Amino acid sequence: VTALAMAHFKGGTAKTSTAVNLSASLAREGRKVLLVDCDPQANASETFIDESEITGTLRTVIRDQVPVQKVIQATRIGGLWVLPSAFELAILANELVVSYNGVQRIEKALRPVRGDFDDIVFDTGPNLSPLTLGALVAAEQYIIPVSAAVWSMTALYKFVGWIEEQRRDEVIEATLMGLLATMVGSRTRIGDKVVAEIRASAYPSFDTVIPRRVGAEDAVANKAVAGDPEMNPDLNEAYKAFAAEVVGKMPRKRGGAHRAITEQ
Ligand SMILES: Nc1ncnc2c1ncn2[C@@H]1O[C@H](COP(=O)(O)OP(=O)(O)OP(=O)(O)O)[C@@H](O)[C@H]1O
Ligand SMILES: [Mg+2]
Repeated sequence: VTALAMAHFKGGTAKTSTAVNLSASLAREGRKVLLVDCDPQANASETFIDESEITGTLRTVIRDQVPVQKVIQATRIGGLWVLPSAFELAILANELVVSYNGVQRIEKALRPVRGDFDDIVFDTGPNLSPLTLGALVAAEQYIIPVSAAVWSMTALYKFVGWIEEQRRDEVIEATLMGLLATMVGSRTRIGDKVVAEIRASAYPSFDTVIPRRVGAEDAVANKAVAGDPEMNPDLNEAYKAFAAEVVGKMPRKRGGAHRAITEQ
């Protein structure tokens, strides 16, 4: 299993869009995927499950000690399951602050099911809350969606600096899989500038660029994701290419730890 967190403390950079479309794309390629929603806004969860049908969250597992298997819900897409969020995760964030080893609780909550999935994808909120940190602790790699907007690069450097501090303090071990340029308008100065800066930066990045399309708002409203017939074809193509790149960048784990040691 490879656990991947979508993260950025800047709001509205397409973290949730990236998480739901990546999860759907991976599942549609035949992989078993668990989407873990760590944002109290619950937009990723509600893309796949009606709010009224969400029966439990990470708080149900961590605070109420309900087995995580009972909280994970199937979706309309074969191969894709969701560990949903709800507003109560905002309360869990505070509970994690006063809990011993609070930042490790999400990793611990998922431990019983980690081996059941090929991929675990975390969506996180636009903040540095214990939920975001907890998702990064549970992840092996993270992806930062960077929107083509004026303040994007300054926000990116601040966020990467914060993550580096967490790594230095040995709170997280996750490494950056790549920066993903999102909402890139064609032939716009800011779009070209952000893509060029990402490429010129010291950080790994994805070749795929997610274009800005008016249809993206309709997709969110209609709860359509990559691979659905009503999805904008350009976005469909971009998310498919992005998912393929993600798989290509995943660490090879064939043979397990023993083989990795003997090969060294
Ligand atoms: N490729 C795109 N083209 C146009 N609009 C987009 C695109 N991707 C996302 N959006 C729109 O931008 C808004 C923010 O997207 P999204 O919710 O994915 O961002 P986010 O980073 O998860 O936000 P938050 O920080 O609140 O969690 C949404 O209304 C979405 O419809
Ligand atoms: Mg979001």
